[in-house]
Amino acid sequence: MTAVPPPVITIDGPAASGKSSIARRVAQHLGFTYVNTGNMYRAMTWAVLEAGVDPQDAEAIRAAAAGITLESPVVEGKTQVCVCGSALGDDELNSDPVNRAVSLVARVPEVRERLVADQRALIALGPLVMEGRDIGSVVFPDSPHKIYIDATEEVRASRRSAQGHADQVAERDRIDKQRTTSPLIVPQGAIVIDNSHITLDEAVGQVLAALHLP
Ligand code: DC
Repeated sequence: MTAVPPPVITIDGPAASGKSSIARRVAQHLGFTYVNTGNMYRAMTWAVLEAGVDPQDAEAIRAAAAGITLESPVVEGKTQVCVCGSALGDDELNSDPVNRAVSLVARVPEVRERLVADQRALIALGPLVMEGRDIGSVVFPDSPHKIYIDATEEVRASRRSAQGHADQVAERDRIDKQRTTSPLIVPQGAIVIDNSHITLDEAVGQVLAALHLP
């Protein structure tokens, strides 16, 4: 008899769509571990920049990434990101240089291959709510629990600046949607929820109502 794998709720969507807040709340509600895969790409980007690498230079990113160790320990129901043994905080993960470079680092196929393998391995933690850009399309394409969170470009840009970040969300989206390896798409079978004009509570309610968990 083959063991049934734990459920994975996949939550994808563009930059600043509100998917992190929604995913965190859904995970808390269900008691599942919350995984923010954007932070894994951000951690890799931070480490690559620290190594003095030009984020436009894919070859140099590949070489630097090979020497960077990334771990995802769970703290209070969420995965954290540690680079070469040190935990990174919000200041590093959401710094302006990381915001500017993360889509460039995330489009390098070898970086994606490595992080996708790490993300799949997190299933060992048990039931997950995992959010990102390619979770329902590439990381866990067989999950029956797929959500795509959207919001208008204006709403997303104003949310990002309200968080105090100078972040070119439209430019990040353009790179994330146009890259060759696992671009941002609405995954097959995903339920699309636009949260431009609803509250966080309403969005969480819609996600929970859309899931058919046993
Ligand atoms: O979710 P976020 O905005 O923090 O993600 C930062 C960047 O990381 C995003 O612009 C593209 C990349 N990313 C990705 O390519 N694949 C994922 N699964 C998650 C994030």
